[in-house]
Amino acid sequence: MAREVVSVTDAMRTMPSSRSFTDAPIDDKTLYRILDSARFAPSGGNRQPWTVLVVRDLEVRAQIAELAQQGWNEYVAYIRDGLVPFGADEHGRWPGPLVDLDAAAATHSPNALVDGIVSAPALLVVLADLTKLAVLDAGLDRQSIVGGGSVYPFAHNIMLAARSEGLGGVMTTFLCRREAQARSLLGFPEQVGIASMIALGEPVEAITRLKRRPVEEFAQIDRWGGEPFTV
Ligand SMILES: Cc1cc2nc3c(=O)[nH]c(=O)nc-3n(C[C@H](O)[C@H](O)[C@H](O)COP(=O)(O)O)c2cc1C
Repeated sequence: MAREVVSVTDAMRTMPSSRSFTDAPIDDKTLYRILDSARFAPSGGNRQPWTVLVVRDLEVRAQIAELAQQGWNEYVAYIRDGLVPFGADEHGRWPGPLVDLDAAAATHSPNALVDGIVSAPALLVVLADLTKLAVLDAGLDRQSIVGGGSVYPFAHNIMLAARSEGLGGVMTTFLCRREAQARSLLGFPEQVGIASMIALGEPVEAITRLKRRPVEEFAQIDRWGGEPFTV
C-alpha cells in the first residue's frame, strides 16, 4: 500500500508518538532517505555530534529491551508517586533519586513499546559525542538544557522525516538509565552518550488530535509573566 506523503507543517502538527507498529518493514532506501533529510539539523558550531546505530541484530535488540525495561520501571515509580521522573527541584537542581531506584528497577511494569523493540520495523540508537557539544550552561547550578540542543533537533528531524514518509515512531530516553550497560553492549566509547532510542514503523493506531498547549499559554510579551502573545 502506498504511504501518505505529508508536508513539513502537516508533519509537525500530526506527529504523535507511535509505539505500536504493523509488521510492514521499512526498507533500507526509506530509512536512508529519512537519515539523509535528518542530517540537515542544526547543531552548535555545526559539529554534528551524532552517530546513529541502526540496530538489526535481534539478540542485541532483546538486550536493549531488557535495559529499556529497567529504565521504564524506574520512570513508572516516579509517576506512581506523582513526580516528574528525574526532574529538578524548585531551584532547577537534580535532587538525587526521590524513589527507591533498586526496588523500582526490579518491579516490572508492562510497556508495549519495550515489548515491541525486537520486532520494531526500525530501531535507532542516537548517540552524541560529548566532546563535540558546546554546553553553554555548563557550571550553572541547575540541570543542563543546552547540550542536548545539539542532538535533539537531529533526533526530531528523524521523526519528522519518518512522518513525511507516512511512518510513525517514538523518541525515547529510557535506555539512558542504563547507559553503562548499553555502552558495553553497543561498543561506544566513554565520551559518547545516548541521546535517544527511536523506534519507527507503520503506526497501528490512526492519528488523533495532539494535546498541546495553545500559543497564548506559553508565549508572553517582554518578560516572564507578561501579556500572552496572541493575534
Ligand atoms: C526527549 C523526549 C524523551 C521521551 N522519552 C520517552 C520514553 O522514554 N518513552 C516513551 O514511551 N516516550 C517518550 N517520549 C515521548 C513523549 O512521551 C511524547 O512525546 C508525549 O507524551 C506526547 O505524546 P504525543 O506525542 O503522542 O502527543 C519522549 C519524548 C521526548 C521529546
